[in-house]
Amino acid sequence: MQARKNVVADLSTSAGFPVQRLRRLRGSETLRQMVRETRLDSRDFVYPLFVMHGRDVKREIASMPGNYQWSLDLLPAEIEEIAKLGIPAVLLFGLPVAKDEVGSEAYDDHGIVQEAVRVIKKAVPEMLVVTDVCLCEYTSHGHCGVIKNGTVDNDPSLDLLARTALAHARAGADIVAPSDMMDGRVAAIRRVLDESGLAGTPIMAYSAKYASGFYGPFREAAESAPQFGDRRAYQMDPPNVREAIREVELDVLEGADIVMVKPALAYLDVIKEVRQRFDLPVAAYNVSGEFSMVKAAARLGWIDEKRIAQEILTGIKRAGADIIITYHAKDIAKWLQASE
Ligand code: PBG
Repeated sequence: MQARKNVVADLSTSAGFPVQRLRRLRGSETLRQMVRETRLDSRDFVYPLFVMHGRDVKREIASMPGNYQWSLDLLPAEIEEIAKLGIPAVLLFGLPVAKDEVGSEAYDDHGIVQEAVRVIKKAVPEMLVVTDVCLCEYTSHGHCGVIKNGTVDNDPSLDLLARTALAHARAGADIVAPSDMMDGRVAAIRRVLDESGLAGTPIMAYSAKYASGFYGPFREAAESAPQFGDRRAYQMDPPNVREAIREVELDVLEGADIVMVKPALAYLDVIKEVRQRFDLPVAAYNVSGEFSMVKAAARLGWIDEKRIAQEILTGIKRAGADIIITYHAKDIAKWLQASE
């Protein structure tokens, strides 16, 4: 009896210090690389692009250095560069010629995103083109659906969103990504695509999309700020995570192929929870404000951009994201190529 106790005591000592020294596997970069649990990979990245009418336009977005609004004639060269960096996909946002109450250009067959899809698929056919399906860039009031009695009316918005997704898919979009947060949009889009012979087009749903302060720079880039009120009556309340699971569950039931959590950094717990509960691919959107904060602090010389950007994306991947939508994609892909 006594002897057995001693064995257990010995084992418990050997289970800890000084036998166990976790520093042993941190001694060299080669060793650290060998035991690394999470690796950034450009093949996981989706790079957002803003497209507009006109010619010879490459207009830098002031709050998002290195990101531009592009006219379609300059797009092929940019897409070729993105492809050379090993980034497999782009996410398109459009700036229309004119905005109106019902966001007409969003679902026009010759709308800016539809034309951009055609240009990209012609220039680099293997580039995956994901299109953001929403009305806010196209409506005069800047909301993501149609307005009735001063609020965004859910059900009449569904038809317009479905028509938008259909116009994108018809133009050749590989994946449509609804970001409006209307209830039932995934089902409405799935039905219209299926009825139109596009049953093979996947839907990447912005499932858990929060009403976030981190979208500020994007709204400058996409010229999509709401002209009255805010988006809290349709996007999610930041403190909620159980509700995020319900959003994802419904989108899966309605036919989503990929689910998304957005933003990423302040919502890593949500990414982790969604990853643990569902077996679909999970995308995370490292949004404009998250990007701009890094750029601004780096410009001030307060942080090391290269290190911080990679650390942030590693955190997003470690939390469980399979796909990362990020404005850092080109920079990080360049750094990864240089370190190969
Ligand atoms: C459109 C949309 C937004 C973003 C993606 N799609 C803005 C919003 O909901 O206000 C934000 C992306 C970013 O901040 O990078 N609804």
